[in-house]
Amino acid sequence: MKILFYGTKNYDEQFFEKLLPNYPGIEMKFIEANIHEETASLAEGYEAICAFVNADLGTPVIEELNRRGVKLILMRCAGYNNVDLNTAHKYGIKVLRVPGYSPEAVAEHAMALVLTANRHTHKAYIKCRENNFALNGLMGVNLYQKTAGIIGTGKIGQAMAKICLGFGMKVIAYDLYPDKSLDFLEYVPLDELLSTSDLISLHCPLTEETRHLINEASIAKMKDGVILVNTSRGGLIKTEDLINGIRDHKFFAVGLDVYEEETDFVYEDMSERILQSSTIQRLLSFPNVTMTSHQGFFTEEALTNIAETTLENAWAFLNGKELKNEILS
Ligand code: NAI
Repeated sequence: MKILFYGTKNYDEQFFEKLLPNYPGIEMKFIEANIHEETASLAEGYEAICAFVNADLGTPVIEELNRRGVKLILMRCAGYNNVDLNTAHKYGIKVLRVPGYSPEAVAEHAMALVLTANRHTHKAYIKCRENNFALNGLMGVNLYQKTAGIIGTGKIGQAMAKICLGFGMKVIAYDLYPDKSLDFLEYVPLDELLSTSDLISLHCPLTEETRHLINEASIAKMKDGVILVNTSRGGLIKTEDLINGIRDHKFFAVGLDVYEEETDFVYEDMSERILQSSTIQRLLSFPNVTMTSHQGFFTEEALTNIAETTLENAWAFLNGKELKNEILS
């Protein structure tokens, strides 16, 4: 089976090539171009394609993949909000993903964002390098004995909850489907989480229901001086409302690994360009906002697990085995 890998970087190729000998019958071709309407036709002659979080797998792209004979879409990530599943299923195209390749990688990055945004380590580093040992602008708040509110208690949310417990925080949580076996956190209604948390960390998927979960109304319910962190999906936050909230001094700090509008330039070096996105520029202009570029997953362990599970998914399809990681709806 030939798989065309879209939107790849050298690290993708490196981790997949290392494991390929364990999966006989699979051939891989890596291209830098991401998948969208103009590049979908490159899949001619490939039974499978492999794509990442920043791929466009909307209706026209899936239709083109179907015309080119693609039978399998391998998402080398957990989230799949960018895939038109209905159209894929209409054409009998299977969509598989990598659930939970390293929840700790994302949770640890969420806490890194909390610590950076709160204690300004990114600014302190630069100041010290320039012999500026003054502390103005660097004051943070203790996390110890504060309340962490986790929205979405799946694999990553649970890992983040445990990290927060390690910091001596009280952990409360909201989930559409509470997991009663989690005895280290207390489920509360969403409004209570919003109004009592000192740190709010988002770990639910982006769905019709969760789109703009953080908006003017939910921000108004938050405590003044709250720290907000999003390592899940940009669409969970209505950016304009977040910007207004920041201007109203609602937030002590905001840490964003994901944001609306990221798709056009995430994982690209845009340092020589003038960005056309004004919301990103505005977010970056605030002293209490720290942003990273969707790198929560980016650890050696996570990349190894992603490559392994993606190749196992492909191998199971090729050999007619059970598709454990198929996305059905
Ligand atoms: P998961 O499927 O294990 O957990 C998601 C949880 O959210 C589940 O407990 C589910 O019941 C809950 N949920 C669903 N709808 C909800 C709603 N309306 N309100 C509250 N909770 C709701 O997923 P996992 O592995 O923990 O990943 C979470 C998200 O993290 C993914 O959907 C993805 O968007 C994001 N992610 C980000 C990465 C990064 O590099 N920044 C890497 C991997 C995932």
